[in-house]
Amino acid sequence: MSDSPPQPSASQDRAALLALLQWQIAMGADEAIGDIPYDRLTAPVPLVPVAAVPAVAAPAAPVMAPPAARSAAGPVTVAPPPALADSLAEAAQSARLVAQTAPTIEALAALVREFDGCPLKRTATNTVFMDGDSAARVMIIGEAPGADEDRLGRPFVGRSGQLLDRMLATIGLDRTSVQITNVIYWRPPGNRKPTSNEIAACLPFVLRHIALAGPRVVVLAGGTAASALLPYSEGITRLRGRWFELAVAGLDAPVPVLPMFHPSFLLRSPERKREAWRDLLALKARLDQTS
Ligand code: URA
Repeated sequence: MSDSPPQPSASQDRAALLALLQWQIAMGADEAIGDIPYDRLTAPVPLVPVAAVPAVAAPAAPVMAPPAARSAAGPVTVAPPPALADSLAEAAQSARLVAQTAPTIEALAALVREFDGCPLKRTATNTVFMDGDSAARVMIIGEAPGADEDRLGRPFVGRSGQLLDRMLATIGLDRTSVQITNVIYWRPPGNRKPTSNEIAACLPFVLRHIALAGPRVVVLAGGTAASALLPYSEGITRLRGRWFELAVAGLDAPVPVLPMFHPSFLLRSPERKREAWRDLLALKARLDQTS
């Protein structure tokens, strides 16, 4: 008889690896963020101040500078990712020229409806611009219309919209006290993720909307909205719950921005509602401070 410990069989190995994976997911490591491990417990990584974001460069990927876990210096001012905001794609350039001519949100909505630069418009039934009160101090930006939104021409009217309404109600908000839009105005076929060219073609309108509305706070619902407006390649799991100050042309001061989980993600992963609740409380506290 040998003294060496029994070797695990292939099926025991597999079961142990699956258990480890499940444990990591339960602990919140639910996203593959990079190929290279990064030790977040050591010195904080510098955030990207707005001055450090190149004005015209259009790199292929968003700036890779993850925010520190908690910055003592408070929120950092950032600009939207140059790869999207300064995209050289024809549709994005034309959108930039058009969007800046809008003097009001109503005029902007009309320009979005007339805009033919985003190919998604060809397969969509309706342009979905916004819902709520355009003077509201809270602006919520989601991803893109789904089937219900496409049919009705309003954002967040399907199941995830109903959850969003319930979430807002917990902190005393509703569609008369917020304005809701998306980073994309037309439904991507089959609800696929929008491409970066589609986002770049809509982003000038979204930024002009923020500038014209001048909200006190912008909530980015989900990873697509967060990566369209913040210059980080980190996933929403890492970005949610942290405040950023977003510099937008036409605003006197950067606007506070809070990334949160998307309601449709919460419908699929109800165990993450605890974090969403924390973020809602942070939003309420911020609004209470500024009212
Ligand atoms: N999901 C979004 O991100 N936006 C909508 O309008 C609807 C669902």
